[in-house]
Amino acid sequence: MFPRNAWYVAAWAREVAREPLARKILGEDVVLFRRTDGKPAALEDQCCHRQLPLSLGKIEGDGLRCGYHGYRFDASGECVEIPGQTTIPPNAGVRSFPVVERWHWVWIWPGDPALADPSKIPDLWWADHPDWQFTAPDMVPLACDSRLIIDNVLDATHLTYVHASSIGSGGLTEVQPTVDTGDNHVRVSRWVLNKPPPPMYAKAGNFEGNADRWAAVEFRAPCAAVNFAGCVDVGHGGPDGDIAASKRRVELVAISLPTPSTDTSCYYFFGFSRAFAHDDPEVERLFSEVMVDVFREDFVILEAQQKRINERPAPRKVSTVNDRASFLARGMIERMAGAEQ
Ligand code: FES
Ligand SMILES: [Fe+2]
Repeated sequence: MFPRNAWYVAAWAREVAREPLARKILGEDVVLFRRTDGKPAALEDQCCHRQLPLSLGKIEGDGLRCGYHGYRFDASGECVEIPGQTTIPPNAGVRSFPVVERWHWVWIWPGDPALADPSKIPDLWWADHPDWQFTAPDMVPLACDSRLIIDNVLDATHLTYVHASSIGSGGLTEVQPTVDTGDNHVRVSRWVLNKPPPPMYAKAGNFEGNADRWAAVEFRAPCAAVNFAGCVDVGHGGPDGDIAASKRRVELVAISLPTPSTDTSCYYFFGFSRAFAHDDPEVERLFSEVMVDVFREDFVILEAQQKRINERPAPRKVSTVNDRASFLARGMIERMAGAEQ
């Protein structure tokens, strides 16, 4: 269902330490840890002896010692010590996974290690740039198919109904978005001109009255989406507007990286970068607390959807114009997965 020859976020970099961290990624049980040189490593989370999860063991040097009979594995998964005997059977060892630390996350390649090319990690430079202030909330495990998150971020019309008190505002549903697409990306964008800004943006940018607002999102298959959002003074927005000349400006990106765990569960990594009010503690609170609460409004929807899908797997499913982007995105994921068969 999901391509395995792709990079997925396994953890926030800050979560990977000299302690084993267990995750299930695309159905694979994985244990993550840091080697003595600080580089992350990932092994199959199952001992080759009697199948105890290695995440119940201990980090030793650059590897892991199983917590049951003490077999020791290096960071490549090779078994390098078996207590009580000097020889090591040739089939003793566990699988290792390519991992790369980039943009505050540790990325894992669940597929063929020979194909793991780090240049294919999506470019998320806003997460690590001096002009952008990055807010990095904790990962949230969700009981839903990660594609429901992709549907969610690609259809901004839900903002009006799910996030009315924060980032919603009526104008969004009145404007048809532009959708453009390539081999492995789809981008949806809208301008809403001369309308009341969403309450949260009005507060963050001290807007009174109307504003020009943009809302765009770009999905990179199979698992990264970046929402671009903001408001400027009326007259500075639109495709030919000069947002830099606006007296007031709220400009942010929200990065969404849902990693499939099973078919009906995922890890939701997300973060916000803003290009305004870097040192304003009240604005920082808006992002680290209020914006996370906005995302929580989605979590309720996503898990409730999955619950119904589990109970009634083949209901009537109507699609309309605003579903086009998610339709394209799901098609890309399917094609990538299909090409691996
Ligand atoms: S189960 Fe790991 S050493 Fe026995
Ligand atoms: Fe949302």
